[in-house]
Amino acid sequence: MSDFAGLVAIVTGGASGIGLATAKLLNSRGAGVAALDLNPDGLPDDIVGIEVDVTDDAQVKSAVDVVVERFGRLDVVVNNAGISAVGDVAANGDDEWLRVLDVNVVGMARVARRASPHLRRSPAAAIVNTCSIVAWAVIKTADALSRRFANGASLLGVPSPFAKWFTLSQTILYDMQNTFIHRFPRSQFDIA
Ligand SMILES: NC(=O)c1ccc[n+]([C@@H]2O[C@H](COP(=O)([O-])OP(=O)(O)OC[C@H]3O[C@@H](n4cnc5c(N)ncnc54)[C@H](O)[C@@H]3O)[C@@H](O)[C@H]2O)c1
Repeated sequence: MSDFAGLVAIVTGGASGIGLATAKLLNSRGAGVAALDLNPDGLPDDIVGIEVDVTDDAQVKSAVDVVVERFGRLDVVVNNAGISAVGDVAANGDDEWLRVLDVNVVGMARVARRASPHLRRSPAAAIVNTCSIVAWAVIKTADALSRRFANGASLLGVPSPFAKWFTLSQTILYDMQNTFIHRFPRSQFDIA
């Protein structure tokens, strides 16, 4: 299948796991693909690896520029780079909070911001953000617990394993995603 022939995609966190599988799939379907990753070693020859930390705006801008210079265009961004984190609100400090939000949430906005001038020129622009089922499944569970127990349990108050940093970052991402989907004209961007 070559339905992505002629298109160019960036996949953040594209050097392992879901990101690598996505990068390979897009490439197998005809897209030129660049994997932006902290550690881009070991990628297949036909995927361009670029060392980038998505928490660093200058690195993100430079990587997007390199991709556009090399391929001449940019059509698809897969915001997939993400980190997990352990601990609840009582156990972790500001640095852990900020790191998770910086990579999982602001990282997505950073890459989208730097890519958007190029995406606006594409006839098939798309941004895909990798989120997690915990964004809504855990909230639902926490809500159910809050209703069941009259002890003031809330998303932040219920005991482990709820209210993990990762879960909270995914919830924010999910809500941002819904906001983007409803606010961007779909004729300009596909956002999934
Ligand atoms: N694997 C799961 O079960 C699961 C479940 C829910 C959500 N997710 C989400 O899917 C995405 C991919 O998950 P995965 O399991 O494939 O993870 P993974 O750890 O295998 O891959 C993540 C990649 O992101 C890169 N990365 C991490 N921080 C980065 C940064 N600051 N800048 C650039 N690259 C960075 C890593 O080097 C790595 O290659 C993540 O966003 C994760 O939150 C995964």
